[in-house]
Amino acid sequence: MFDSLAFAPPDSILGLTEAFRKDPNPRKINLSVGVFKDAAGSTPILRSVKEAERRLLDAEQNKGYLPIEGHPEYAARVQELLFGSAHEIQSSRRAVTAQTPGGTGALRVAADFLRKHFPHATVWHSKPTWANHPAIFAAAGLGVQSYAYIDGANQALDFPAMLAALGEIPRGDVVLLHACCHNPTGIDPTPEQWQEIAAVVHERGLLPLVDFAYQGFGDGLVEDAAGLAALARPGKELLICSSYSKNFGLYGERVGALTLVADSPESAERALSQLRVAIRTNYSNPPTHGAAIVATVLSDRELRSDWETELAAMRERIHAMRQLFVRTMKSKAPQLDFSFLGSQKGMFSFSGLSNLQVDELRTKHSVYVVGNGGRINVAGITEQNIDPLTTAIAAVLQ
Ligand code: LMR
Repeated sequence: MFDSLAFAPPDSILGLTEAFRKDPNPRKINLSVGVFKDAAGSTPILRSVKEAERRLLDAEQNKGYLPIEGHPEYAARVQELLFGSAHEIQSSRRAVTAQTPGGTGALRVAADFLRKHFPHATVWHSKPTWANHPAIFAAAGLGVQSYAYIDGANQALDFPAMLAALGEIPRGDVVLLHACCHNPTGIDPTPEQWQEIAAVVHERGLLPLVDFAYQGFGDGLVEDAAGLAALARPGKELLICSSYSKNFGLYGERVGALTLVADSPESAERALSQLRVAIRTNYSNPPTHGAAIVATVLSDRELRSDWETELAAMRERIHAMRQLFVRTMKSKAPQLDFSFLGSQKGMFSFSGLSNLQVDELRTKHSVYVVGNGGRINVAGITEQNIDPLTTAIAAVLQ
């Protein structure tokens, strides 16, 4: 049977890291996958995470299964991070949270749940979006479409086009929104624009599905939740897929959550019973360790404050690398204007490189960036690689 199988194409993001590993060039630079690097170019384990792990190892009594929806303490901490501690959604108990293997796990559970109960709903994502978004929803059997998001130059939000496109989506469809640090462009709506987006989404009766994978990497934990706060209006339903891969540096531990907000606690409990079915038939119940780390850090005042300091340092380093990139590109290729990149948010930005230039960057200079817009992971830039990186980009652009 397997003889008849064709090769699947390599993953457009993770496949590049595979190719990078095989590249023998000692000066190779990987700006493809969204992983934070420190000034020395490594991905550190956070102090707060190490300390939480120490405590967990000491306290751990068994390796039993978690409930299908995961640990209740983790769910409570996730909701606090999403909505703040005194939000009506929590006091009215109309949100339920399932611990999932990464943000991708949350998206797939959401997709399976939607496909089973709302099979005719189409999922609308921004154009462009993270390459795995359409793939996940299509794999679950849902219809997938896109709405306008950025301008022709790939440098700014085309807000009127976005609002107009949202205003055309049929009632009952699902609109996928990036809470902050839009992947792949780094282009986010302002808090005022979020209010308008929320108004259109709710007026049209669309179900918002918010992908929140970079909380704290834009302007801060609370600031980055402005879009979610705008959508979380009294009585309104929504789905949130959050990830703690990046802001806790827990990539391989696969820590995410699916939060469903219903219009009443009874509907939320009924929906949770259906989410349990989607989870049980998918991976049964979630892995323990990563989520236990997050719950431990967020439940302890000292650890939480240390984590916030570490998160701020990651955010500030990314911001500094944006400025360094803009400055260095200007000195190497004054005719090219990269200033737009300085004010974008989170790990990613579109470099403006064509697919041909992205290939040339990889084959001639061993610099790895993602195609279809030339997404660069700004968090992978360092003082050491900025010079060869900008020389290579200037060379392929000239
Ligand atoms: C990315 O976009 O690079 C990350 O979200 C990692 C991934 O799984 O693609």
